[in-house]
Amino acid sequence: MAITIACISGKGGVGKTTTTINLAAALAERGRRVLAVDCDPQSNLTSGLGFDPYRIPVTIGDVFAGRVRSAPDAFLSTHWENLWLLPAKPDLSAVENDLNSSLNRELLLRDALSRDGIQASFDFILFDTPPNFGFHTVNVLAAIRYVLIPVQMSGYAIKGLKEVLRTVHAARQRLNPELRILGIVATFVNLRTNFSRDMLEGLREIPNLTVFDTIIKLTVKLQETSLAGIPVTSYAASSEAALAYRSLADEVLAHV
Ligand SMILES: Nc1ncnc2c1ncn2[C@@H]1O[C@H](COP(=O)(O)OP(=O)(O)O)[C@@H](O)[C@H]1O
Ligand SMILES: [Mg+2]
Repeated sequence: MAITIACISGKGGVGKTTTTINLAAALAERGRRVLAVDCDPQSNLTSGLGFDPYRIPVTIGDVFAGRVRSAPDAFLSTHWENLWLLPAKPDLSAVENDLNSSLNRELLLRDALSRDGIQASFDFILFDTPPNFGFHTVNVLAAIRYVLIPVQMSGYAIKGLKEVLRTVHAARQRLNPELRILGIVATFVNLRTNFSRDMLEGLREIPNLTVFDTIIKLTVKLQETSLAGIPVTSYAASSEAALAYRSLADEVLAHV
């Protein structure tokens, strides 16, 4: 059975997509078979792995809408060994309105991924989500085991974190009793500022919550990689950011 993990934060610009891409690439480097699933209509995971969302014929939107026979019809192999993509394009934002039944609309993704031997074909399935708790994120929460929460070192982060924890709690009660918080990964860390250091310290004091030792520092390298459509583990294989995502992958492997 694949280990399923989603990056969720409810906010934009905190490093969800960057973490999904680079954790996926680092796990693939470690020899794990990884499927990355783009559940955000912004399609940044898709472009971040080198594809043009506007030119992809079959996407996760077709899976949601039942326009493909099975989800693997939409899988793409990437340039990187062991790494596959279930891509998105912007029409994903409209899929909710196109569904003609309101029955089980929160379980569409879970049902699609539980068929066709998908769970047995991968070691990991990683999900990227939009910056809200709407239809797409709820479908992801119903389909996964583990939530990974990127927390950007900024003033609003703790409020955002509380919202994620509340949402996960509600989803566990109502939708998916298996749901667990895998942990928090601190992103955009600038250790030259007291702010980042104090916030990290504060996060680590929250009881019953794993904060990974690995921190993702603020670096222009990660901005460059999103534009280039290449994971940092390949784009700048020996950069600090690449080493950090490899170390996060090792911590994740130890926790699941
Ligand atoms: N640690 C980092 N340092 C600098 N820039 C980053 C870092 N992580 C992500 N970015 C950049 O910040 C922007 C937002 O990150 P992204 O992963 O897309 O966030 P989200 O998916 O949560 O909206 C992107 O342009 C990305 O390249
Ligand atoms: Mg994103």
